[in-house]
Amino acid sequence: MRTIVVTGGPDGMGAAPVRHYLAAGERVVVIGRSRAKFDALTANSTRAEFIAADLSLVEDSRRVTEQITSKYERVDALVLAASFIRQRRHVTNAQQRRANELLGILATEQVPGLGYVTWGPARLVRSSFAGEVGTGMRVAAAVLAPVLGQRPEDAIRPVAGIIDSPAPGRSAYRGARKRPLTTGAHDEVDAARLAAAVEKVL
Ligand SMILES: NC(=O)c1ccc[n+]([C@@H]2O[C@H](COP(=O)([O-])OP(=O)(O)OC[C@H]3O[C@@H](n4cnc5c(N)ncnc54)[C@H](OP(=O)(O)O)[C@@H]3O)[C@@H](O)[C@H]2O)c1
Repeated sequence: MRTIVVTGGPDGMGAAPVRHYLAAGERVVVIGRSRAKFDALTANSTRAEFIAADLSLVEDSRRVTEQITSKYERVDALVLAASFIRQRRHVTNAQQRRANELLGILATEQVPGLGYVTWGPARLVRSSFAGEVGTGMRVAAAVLAPVLGQRPEDAIRPVAGIIDSPAPGRSAYRGARKRPLTTGAHDEVDAARLAAAVEKVL
């Protein structure tokens, strides 16, 4: 049995791999804030574990990492799907998407056999759009997503296949289509800055 860890697993896009891997007989560790959503999603499965955490907090992120590394010898796949949208500038210690890209550079440098996949859906998905969102996105979530959006289960189908047989190194997909990786002049420098910043807070 493999161990799959899903951040943002209680809801939205993250909930789909939780269902998928539980149905496939794997152990799934779900990280999020809502225990009630986890209970409803996993229906008391003995292979599902919930770790309550607010991942906007360094302290909680550190605790989660320690809990997982002390309990599990190996994590077979880590799905990063926690999301909280802010459409106005908000100063935090992280920029999710850029940090995830840079994490891919650092992780594959340190563990060459690792497969690191950056994935996005091919089109709108009916998720919760949690966050401080403006009118446009609120309308899209309430009106357009139920009509035009895919179900999370359908949206994540291509990535489940990719996770099950990962190629080593970094790759990017939109839906089922592989996309070219674009590299920027600042990537290595930014990755080193991220590594130093993380070292400092940890
Ligand atoms: N939906 C789309 O059409 C679409 C399109 C392109 C890309 N994406 C990307 O897909 C990813 C997932 O988004 P989504 O649409 O699935 O969002 P969502 O439905 O709003 O779900 C957000 C998830 O993140 C968790 N979460 C939020 N804040 C958290 C925090 N501080 N600490 C821990 N967990 C937290 C939530 O758990 P709790 O409920 O427990 O708080 C929930 O499981 C994002 O990166 C988004 O940009 C989505």
